[in-house]
Amino acid sequence: MISESFKQELLARVDIVDVIDARVPLKKAGANFTARCPFHTEKSPSFTVSQSKQFYHCFGCGAHGNAISFLMEYSGLGYIDALRELTDSVGMKLPAFEPKAGAKPPAGPPPVDLFEVMAKATQFYRDALKGAPQAIDYLKGRGLSGKVAARFGLGYAPADFQSLQTVFPQYDDQALVDCGLVIVAENGRRYDRFRDRIMFPIFNPRGQVIGFGGRVMGQGEPKYLNSPETSLFEKRRELYGLREARDAMRSSDRVIVVEGYMDVVALAQYGVENAVATLGTATTALHLTKLLRQVNEIVFCFDGDAAGRKAAWHALEVALGCLPDGKVIRFLMLPPEHDPDSFVRAEGADAFNAMAASAAPLSAFLSAELERRYPTATAEGRAQIVNEARALLGKMTAPALKMQLIREIARLGEIEPGELGRLLGWTEPARTFSGRPSTDSRPSWRSPSVPTARVDPVRSGLIRERKLERGVLECVLAHPSLAALISDDFHASDYPEGQALLAVLSAIRGGEQLTPALIGRFEDGPHAAIVTAVAAEVMKNDWSIEQAEPELKGALRQIELSEVEAQLAKMRADKDAPAAWDPAAKREYGELIQRLGDLKRSRADG
Ligand code: UTP
Ligand code: MN
Repeated sequence: MISESFKQELLARVDIVDVIDARVPLKKAGANFTARCPFHTEKSPSFTVSQSKQFYHCFGCGAHGNAISFLMEYSGLGYIDALRELTDSVGMKLPAFEPKAGAKPPAGPPPVDLFEVMAKATQFYRDALKGAPQAIDYLKGRGLSGKVAARFGLGYAPADFQSLQTVFPQYDDQALVDCGLVIVAENGRRYDRFRDRIMFPIFNPRGQVIGFGGRVMGQGEPKYLNSPETSLFEKRRELYGLREARDAMRSSDRVIVVEGYMDVVALAQYGVENAVATLGTATTALHLTKLLRQVNEIVFCFDGDAAGRKAAWHALEVALGCLPDGKVIRFLMLPPEHDPDSFVRAEGADAFNAMAASAAPLSAFLSAELERRYPTATAEGRAQIVNEARALLGKMTAPALKMQLIREIARLGEIEPGELGRLLGWTEPARTFSGRPSTDSRPSWRSPSVPTARVDPVRSGLIRERKLERGVLECVLAHPSLAALISDDFHASDYPEGQALLAVLSAIRGGEQLTPALIGRFEDGPHAAIVTAVAAEVMKNDWSIEQAEPELKGALRQIELSEVEAQLAKMRADKDAPAAWDPAAKREYGELIQRLGDLKRSRADG
């Protein structure tokens, strides 16, 4: 059998987000990732993947587990095959099965870890840089500090044909070839792929080296030599500098995508740390979805030359096909004589950041490019614009942005937006929306015509109350038994949070106990969005019942407190002076004042 420790090591190596995302595209949602569940049909995503816990859970159907069980369930693989798929993906080898007692162990080399090979090579190149003055001079000559070189793990591959032999005595190990570090010539002779080059290690987000870019010092071909595609390294998936850029991406909510290794490193040296580069390939949808899971804004920064313009247009085409509404893509075209490296050196980080922040959004870049390419003064030119736009808009995934772009392009092409929509075979959204039956989330007993007890919801308490009700919902979804603490005549607000809470409470009181089943019941209904969002918070916060109970009590007290305050305010506003009130009103007022005092005291106590 495969040992438990091997299984744990494997699970520590793989990232469940990558494993699932390659099969079921995931979206970032708070600390987790979500998708529509691959194991049952649903309209809104209740399938949640936790990167920190390396665990998935579907709040709809209850499916859950780790990367291994996901592959077994999703791909219908047996346990060993699922393990093999995972080991292959991270460059580990499945250990030979433990022999039955008495049997001879199978012959053959012990399993090799390709990541370890890469790590060892990286260290070798870094050490070699220290003893290579010409390489240090080259980097200095390009203005790089020792600090930034260390941050990016830069190294130097010596000029000898078999330098790696110094750290890999078994130089003919197949693993060196599998890693792309050693090349086997036709005559069978082996030699280092990278010789006399500055080495840029390429890390995956977990900090493991998966490939290298090697720059020739000075003139020479190719200028950059890259690792070949290996089981560790797929260029259309990876981005240079992602590991180093992570924190800055998170704090700025923006990533800058540039073309070159040197651009990333130079920008970082000047304090622009949220830059990554594609690896000598054009931008792919995989790149973009990966980045858009982490930030809301991408700024493409291409060189100011014709090639840069072409790369930008390509990026735009790719973006249209995978950009959801709510994300921003910008295009920063540098002056023709500059790339990001030379620009930041010449003009500084502030100038660069200012340009990035004000770079043309996708819509503006698109119309500017169309106008630049076709003469808008002639009917033929305008027809070409419409034609080109038709192909572009056809693959768009963001409905709201699409509508805006249709308007924009219709203006350029001097046709009616409706006509352009028809050319696209697109029905007007307004009709689709108004044609749908309205989804009324109110329970039947609370029709819109019946006024509710809640007073003036627009007043200051609104945001706080919605938050509080959301908190109550979270406690109840985490631990349905806590619903017993909520009184039967709990007065929920008319906002989605309040109404979802009422629906969940009534399900629990109706005897539904299991959390996943409970949540699944709401997946298609009017409360789906709130319930799944809160369910993901449940997964994230992972409150024990001991933590949830005081949270719940506190929220209920707050809600009641604001309700009592609102009622008092209403009485004071509605009636004449209290002295003139009838006895019932006076009594009610007195009771409310007393209740208010109680609530305030208990808040101070607890
Ligand atoms: P550039 O030719 O624009 O070089 O290639 P650069 O980034 O400005 O590099 P420096 O400043 O001269 O050192 C941009 C990117 O294209 C890929 C590399 O990823 C490079 O960073 N490239 C370029 C290659 O892969 N191979 C090459 O031979 C050239
Ligand atoms: Mn350059």
